[in-house]
This record gives sequence, structure tokens and C-alpha cells, in this order.
Amino acid sequence: MSTLFSLKGKVALITGATNGIGLGMAKGLAEAEIDQIILTYRSEGPLERATNVLKEINPKVVISAVHADLGAGTEDEVVDKIVTEAYAVAQSGVIDILINNAGINNRHPFEAFPAADFAEVLRINLQIPIKLTQRVGTQMLKTKTEGRVVFTASLMSFQGGMNATAYAVTKGGINQFTKALSNEWSSKGIRINSIAPGYIDTNLTGTMDPQHRATILPRIPIGRWGEIDDFKGPIVFLTSDASRYVTGETLLVDGGWMGR
Ligand SMILES: NC(=O)c1ccc[n+]([C@@H]2O[C@H](COP(=O)([O-])OP(=O)(O)OC[C@H]3O[C@@H](n4cnc5c(N)ncnc54)[C@H](OP(=O)(O)O)[C@@H]3O)[C@@H](O)[C@H]2O)c1
Repeated sequence: MSTLFSLKGKVALITGATNGIGLGMAKGLAEAEIDQIILTYRSEGPLERATNVLKEINPKVVISAVHADLGAGTEDEVVDKIVTEAYAVAQSGVIDILINNAGINNRHPFEAFPAADFAEVLRINLQIPIKLTQRVGTQMLKTKTEGRVVFTASLMSFQGGMNATAYAVTKGGINQFTKALSNEWSSKGIRINSIAPGYIDTNLTGTMDPQHRATILPRIPIGRWGEIDDFKGPIVFLTSDASRYVTGETLLVDGGWMGR
């Protein structure tokens, strides 16, 4: 890996990397020779599988895990646990890269949207990422770390979607938060960016109505659904020196969808 894209010496904390797009991103970090990846996880099975995949790519990468169900307890309790345990295992004592990736979508027509389902999406996709960024970013500022924060946004950061009002609120919010926080922190050494995936084959999209799924492929210019490995390059770009003048940006990784 050329030095431009190398993550040697860096420590990353990533949520939701035991499956899907987050795992694809973690694979990219491992390929870029990052020193340590701290994953949050919910259950042992996916954690073990993800660890094996990452170790196979780069046997030298240190994989550490923090147990966190983002839906359990109060938001502050969850964030406090992640931050405390992540800094306790960070081998350099510093977290250089924070990737807020974990996310869910509860789909209902708005008139029948249960309040608890709406609140759960706000909490996991928006409120916890914001709180986690405040805690980790404040520590980056204190230690004068050249920080990189990346959020997983969505096409719904730009489009409204159907039966996904809560999801659209959160992903639109992430897009705005990326810009607003970049305005505050980029001059202090922390770059803030997002990646907006198009339609990617993961557990999340596996729950979509099959009829809806079938209408999507013909509209993707590149001619296929996205795969998790499509996120290796974009995350390495946004967390390495290759993107050193890129901040406040939401990078579409969508096979051309938004160009239509
Ligand atoms: N797939 C797409 O087409 C698409 C498009 C645009 C944006 N996105 C975004 O991409 C991100 C990743 O989604 P994905 O498609 O890769 O779906 P996924 O395979 O379901 O992955 C979601 C990740 O979030 C974790 N997660 C979900 N709820 C959690 C909770 N309560 N506590 C802890 N972890 C939790 C999951 O943990 P487990 O491993 O334990 O399940 C998993 O690692 C999300 O932010 C999503 O909104 C996806």
C-alpha cells in the first residue's frame, strides 16, 4: 500500500463492523495496514467470523472488541461504555479514526408508524453517532490527534424514499451534521466526512419487499447491486492522507444511482 493510502500506526473505532458495509470498511482498513481496529459487537458469532476475516487479510492487525447493544439502556450509558472500553484497549491510548456505521431501518407508512419504531431509528442512526462523535472527538481535540470521522449516510440523505420517514430524517441529519461539524473541527485537525451507499446487498436490504427489490436493479447504471467490498477503497481514501483536503463531504458509493 503506498504511503498516501497507508493507515500504519493508526487505531480505528468502528460501530457495526461485524456484518455488512461496516465489515467491508474494516476489511479496507486491514488491507491498508492499520495497527488496530476496535469493533463494537452484539453477539459472539458475527464477531468471531469478522475477526477471522480481518486476520486472514492482515495477520498483524490487532482486533479488539467492545460489547455494545446500541438499543439497550440509555443513550448515554451505551456511549459511555463504548468510549470507556475503547480507550482502555486502544494500544496507543489514542483513537485516530471513528467510523459511525451501525444503522437500522424500520419501514412503515407514516400514518401507522409506531412511535417506538420511529424513536429506535433516531436513536441508533443519529443520536448515538452524534454523542459518540462528541465524546471521541473531544478527546481527539484534547490530544491534538489528526482525527478522521466518517459516518455511513445513505441515498436517503438526499432522497425521501418510501415508507422510511424515520430513516430519511436520520440520514438527512447525518449529511447536515457532517457539514456543520466539519466547519467547526476541520481547522482543529479533525476531518469529518460521510459515505453514502447506494443499494448494497446486506442484511438490511434483505428485509426489503421483493417486488421493490426487483425494480431497483434496472435503475442502477453500473448494472449490479453493491457489495460490501465496494467500501474498502472509499473508507481507506477518507481515513488516509489521500483525502487530506477533503472534509464536510458525503461521498456517494452508489454505482451511479444519483446521476440518473
Ligand atoms: N445496505 C444498503 O443498501 C445501505 C444503503 C445505505 C446506507 N446503509 C447504511 O449502512 C450501514 C450499515 O448497514 P448494512 O447495510 O451493512 O446493514 P447490516 O448488515 O444489517 O449491518 C448493520 C450493522 O449495524 C449493527 N447494528 C444494528 N443495530 C444494532 C444495535 N442495536 N446495536 C449494535 N449494533 C447494531 C449490526 O450488528 P450485527 O452485526 O450484530 O447485526 C451490523 O453490524 C447503516 O448505517 C445503513 O443505514 C446501507
